[in-house]
Amino acid sequence: MIALRKICKIYRRESLVNVKALSDIDIKIGKGEFVVIKGASGSGKTTLMNIIGFLDKPTGGEYRLNGNDVTRLSDRDISVMRGEKIGFVFQSFNLIKTKSSIENVMLPMLYSKEFPLDFRKLSIRKLEEVGLSHRLKHRPSELSGGEQQRVAIARALVNDPGIILADEPTGNLDSRTGIEIMSIFKSLNEAGKTIIIVTHEDFITSYAKRVITLRDGRLLSDTARDQ
Ligand SMILES: Nc1ncnc2c1ncn2[C@@H]1O[C@H](COP(=O)(O)OP(=O)(O)OP(=O)(O)O)[C@@H](O)[C@H]1O
Ligand SMILES: [Mg+2]
Repeated sequence: MIALRKICKIYRRESLVNVKALSDIDIKIGKGEFVVIKGASGSGKTTLMNIIGFLDKPTGGEYRLNGNDVTRLSDRDISVMRGEKIGFVFQSFNLIKTKSSIENVMLPMLYSKEFPLDFRKLSIRKLEEVGLSHRLKHRPSELSGGEQQRVAIARALVNDPGIILADEPTGNLDSRTGIEIMSIFKSLNEAGKTIIIVTHEDFITSYAKRVITLRDGRLLSDTARDQ
């Protein structure tokens, strides 16, 4: 489903040295996979996730999603595709501070092409799915870190994307809460979602069916894990 061929990314900065963040990355990820991406700080993990999630464009190579050449799409088509196909979860949750859990989860629907009939109901249902039915009207500052990440996961799920991308989703959580969050990703994967997680934490690798390691912007290894 996701097919990257010879993907390169060079960050060009005026009057600064160019950074070659990714070189010749070849990766195919099929529907329903559970992939962990590892590598030292600066090895290109976030850059790769941003390209997979259409938040950034490669400077070279080809990206096909379900057979479509993404590098040829217009910016508008790309943002529609991003909204429909991809859900994002970040280390720092990225919730809007002044909005309640329900309102935060509703946000992506405001940009989707097909407006669901009842935003609010759907938003509440997604919050129930991640175990937050008792925190619907709380603001992020009134929630624990694990609860904030659950809101972010509910928000990522609300457009029913096939692919969930998470960049260090447990990085700001204690280990017990991290395990709770990982069990949500596990059940999403069992329900058929493709999960791609960037992490430094070894315990997360035990959830993965496949581990990709980057070093200096190159693919160092790509191995299947025995379950
Ligand atoms: N916007 C940018 N402009 C210039 N260089 C950048 C930019 N973003 C990242 N880089 C550089 O590209 C390289 C890869 O960065 P990236 O953020 O992908 O690493 P990472 O593997 O996610 O690291 P970390 O584990 O610390 O999050 C680094 O050398 C970084 O300094
Ligand atoms: Mg990173």
